[in-house]
Formats: sequence, structure tokens, C-alpha cells
Amino acid sequence: MPHTPHDPTAPRIALVGATGAVGETLIGLIEDRSFRYREIHLVASPRSAGRTLEVDGRDHRVSALDTFDFSCVDLAFFSAGSEVSRKWAPVAAGQGALVVDNTNAFRMDPDTPLVVPQVNAETLTRRPASGIAANPNCSTIPLVRLLRPVEDRWGLSRAVVSTYQAASGRGHSGTAELYEATRAALEDPSEPGPQVEFSPTLAFNVIPFIDELLDSGFTMEEQKMLQESRKILGLPHLDVTTTCVRVPVRNGHSEAAWIECDDVVDRAELVALLAALPEVTVHDRDTPGAFPTPRTIDEANHVHVGRVRVSPHNPRGFWLWVVADNLRIGAALNALQIAEELVARGAL
Ligand code: A2P
Repeated sequence: MPHTPHDPTAPRIALVGATGAVGETLIGLIEDRSFRYREIHLVASPRSAGRTLEVDGRDHRVSALDTFDFSCVDLAFFSAGSEVSRKWAPVAAGQGALVVDNTNAFRMDPDTPLVVPQVNAETLTRRPASGIAANPNCSTIPLVRLLRPVEDRWGLSRAVVSTYQAASGRGHSGTAELYEATRAALEDPSEPGPQVEFSPTLAFNVIPFIDELLDSGFTMEEQKMLQESRKILGLPHLDVTTTCVRVPVRNGHSEAAWIECDDVVDRAELVALLAALPEVTVHDRDTPGAFPTPRTIDEANHVHVGRVRVSPHNPRGFWLWVVADNLRIGAALNALQIAEELVARGAL
């Protein structure tokens, strides 16, 4: 279908962090999904100001954030890190833009909805009091999309989750460091290579530590999964406990999730329930035991589920293996789906 990017009824949009891993993915999705806009402004750090990027076949110059005027846009996507969002998202909202923020900066703010459109789109019925709609953490999004219908059908009592998170979660520099460290280790196995994004080295290694350590002994990444799941699902006492692990995968986060319900779960019904969800592929459906992997998923805009196992000695509980593209499902696609929902509801 031909795309009409310069639709006069469509929003004027800004992409802050347009040159980054999430920003570039967002540009690709805007093109793929024919997201309609009247104007598009690409914004990044002064390092990138003046660079040209192509969107929908047209060249656009990148503007520097510190001189950008958000009063000229209706919608601003922020994917430039928490520090940038903390400082600039309220400025953008104050200048009249509705912000869709990809970072951790405002997720737990009571005036900011935390949105996964497939789960709680109803939180977008009007402009948020803060002027910001927050995109959840990359590992939280696929999990809550699967937990919602399970809670509705069997009641949720707990989720115990281990994540296997890809290098691209740290942006372009994370992916580059994985390649560089791997190259260095192949030449000399005693050589750790660079350790700026990941420490110790991620080459031929796994690191059970993401983000900062909290007094509780959990990491911030682990706490995010608990707090965000509770907020999105509207279940303030839900027991979600996680171990978040960085693995030497380029892109695509995986999760092993043990989910315990209030009632006994029937495996065939569970598989059918998950397979009926929008944009979810259940690999186990026709081939019990089948599984997705970050390198083999074909539909990158789907949450992929496999290894569906109801426990024989505790049939209230089951395991899922979940794979989702963290740059898409976990960031840019969810952000764009929030924007699509805002447009559809006339909330801009
Ligand atoms: P730039 O490319 O100019 O550094 P990634 O997640 O791949 O690391 O990308 C981060 C994104 O955030 C990039 O677009 C980067 O722009 C942008 N960014 C980082 N720091 C700032 C800042 N202080 N002001 C505006 N944009 C920033």
C-alpha cells in the first residue's frame, strides 16, 4: 500500500534518539507500518546534529536536542536513555508534545500510564496528567502480554522468571562491544577485550547482573520487572521474582518463566489460549517441546512461546520459554503501538 507521509490530519512527530538502536528500529517500523505523520523531526545529541537519515524515501537532517523546540510537534518519542528523558521529557511535555518515553525515568510515576497496548490500552483514553506515556522494560512487555490472559482464566499467584538478555539492550555500543570482545577472545582467549558496556566481558560468558544493585540484593532490572508487572496488570500484590542475565546474543531477549496459578491449568487449553493472542506465536502448538530462539524467530513483531510444560506434581504451575525482539516488542514496536492507539482514540 503506498504510504502518504505528509498527511495534513496526521500528527507532527519527533524521534529523540533517532540515531540509536531503538531510534533506528522505530524509523523502520514507522515505514513498515505506514504510520502517518505530517512532519517528522529526528533529534539526537550534538554529535549527530547535521547528519542526514532517510525516512520514507526522504532525507531528514538530525537536530540537536538542546536547541529543539517541541512546540512544533504533537508527539515525541524518547529513546535516548533515562538521564536524557528525566531532563527533557518534561520540557517536551511542557511545550505541548505528548511524550512516549522508552526509558525507566517515569514508569512508576502515578501521573504517567505504563502501557502495553495489548494489555492496558484503556489507560490511554485521555492525555496523561504528566504529558508522558511510558513504555515498560524490554523483558516486562512480553511477560505481561502472556500473564494477562492467564490471570483472567486461572488467577495468578506468582511468576518466577530468569531472563537471557541480548547485547542490543545496551544500544549500538552494546552490540559493538560484544563483537569486539568476541573477536579479541578468539584471537587470544585470555584477552577480555573492552568492558565498558559489560563487565566482566560478555564474550563467551553470561553475566547475572543488569543495571545497578539495590539494597535488597536485587538489581534495578529485576525490581523493574516486579514493579512494572504489578502496575500494568493492576495487581499490586502480584509476586514476580526474577534473575536478569545478560547473554552473548546480538539481539532478542529470552525468558524462562515459571507461572503459578490459583486453579489447576490444562495444558491444551493453555496452548490454545496463548496461540489465540494477537501477535503471539506458540511454537509448541503442533509440536510439543518445540522452541523459538533469538536467531531463528521468523516474525520479529511477535512474542514467541515454546516449551509449554504444566508440572505433573503441581498442575497449578507451568513453564514457558519466551523469546521476543527487545528492540521491537521490548521498545520501538510497543512505543509505536502506543502512538497508534493514541491516534485511534483521538488522544493527541
Ligand atoms: P547520538 O547518536 O548523537 O549519540 P543507543 O541506545 O544505540 O546507544 O543510542 C542512544 C541514542 O540517544 C542516540 O541517538 C544518541 O545520539 C542519543 N543520545 C545520547 N545522549 C544524548 C544526549 N545527551 N542528548 C540527545 N541525544 C542523546
